Amino acid sequence: MDPDGSEQDPEMKKYSSVCVGREEDIKKSERMTAVVHDREVVIFYHRGEYHAMDIRCYHSGGPLHLGEIEEFDGRPCIVCPWHKYKITLATGEGLYQSINPKDPSAKPKWCSKGIKQRIHTVTVDNGNIYVTLSNEPFKCDSDFYATGVFKVIQSSS
Ligand code: FES
Repeated sequence: MDPDGSEQDPEMKKYSSVCVGREEDIKKSERMTAVVHDREVVIFYHRGEYHAMDIRCYHSGGPLHLGEIEEFDGRPCIVCPWHKYKITLATGEGLYQSINPKDPSAKPKWCSKGIKQRIHTVTVDNGNIYVTLSNEPFKCDSDFYATGVFKVIQSSS
């Protein structure tokens, strides 16, 4: 038995998908939260597409399910309510604006810090929404708030 309930296949290192709710409900609310194999995630329904990511912001653990969705450089982002970091819904990249100091007249440009927030897969089957946790082997900044030490601190406070 898997003590943390992660139900990971030891051979494939692949998580099974988990039903988190009904399509008709998320289409109304446009977001929902769920616990998938002991990991808290938020699922957004935005412009006809579903996106799931770790619920706690990679910067300092802010509650992304309470943020607003805005577009930056044509990319829909969740804006963290704590310090306004912008995270792309599709890829989990942190976006920031940069200015070339040698050219102060230049317009600020949107740039990517790379993938900071772990994105999970959403599928729809027969009106049910399923989330499959990412098993991408890279270290993602949001992992800290989704696993291990931070969760222990949180549950003991
Ligand atoms: Fe999200 Fe700081 S915790 S921007």
